[in-house]
Amino acid sequence: MTHPLVQHKLSLLRDETTGSKEFRELAAEIAMLMAYEATRDLETETVRIQTPVAEAEVPMLAGKKLALIAILRAGLIMADSIVRLIPAAKVGHIGLYRDPESLNPVEYYAKLPSDIGERRVFLLDPMLATGGSAVEAIRTLKERGAQNIKLMSILAAPEGVARVQSAYPDVEIVVAAIDSHLNDHGYIVPGLGDAGDRIYGTK
Ligand code: PRP
Ligand code: URA
Repeated sequence: MTHPLVQHKLSLLRDETTGSKEFRELAAEIAMLMAYEATRDLETETVRIQTPVAEAEVPMLAGKKLALIAILRAGLIMADSIVRLIPAAKVGHIGLYRDPESLNPVEYYAKLPSDIGERRVFLLDPMLATGGSAVEAIRTLKERGAQNIKLMSILAAPEGVARVQSAYPDVEIVVAAIDSHLNDHGYIVPGLGDAGDRIYGTK
């Protein structure tokens, strides 16, 4: 997404002097702006309403219902923000952490809407690094019946995008920026550091 507002906010997010409070606010705002773009293809239907002045035929969201799935922890900030924009969406959670040695994802929790197969799914994680977490989360979603999945990440590495695209070519990926590469510890360069730690002030 090349929108100047998103890019400006992302630059502030990257800055190491940005503290947790501002980091949370910026990440939430970026997620909301990204959701605006990512939901551009939602269908609408015409319904008849009465305004205080006259009857009118107006567009309302139609078709498939939505599910927002946060990858814990850092995806929470995106789900909390986007659900304010789309309050009818159901919110699910997949708990994953990267093993610091192998960088492989370890799943510890999954609570998803029971009718996920009938919903358009937005999988939310601010960081797409090696792609291991996203691929594991998509595997879980598909196992539970999800058919229509869009992955939204604030920041990605080329390696992560390639891995998800190769494992699940049907999953559309929406990112605010793709950075240069991953370092030896699996961090995105230049990136923004550890998103979960910066959001929650842990380290
Ligand atoms: C971070 C981030 C992603 C994952 C991305 O989570 O929030 O979930 O790493 O890396 P990958 O693409 O290489 O899998 P982390 O494992 O640090 O857990 P946390 O959100 O609980 O801090
Ligand atoms: N997870 C993060 O939070 N940051 C990175 O750079 C890579 C994975």
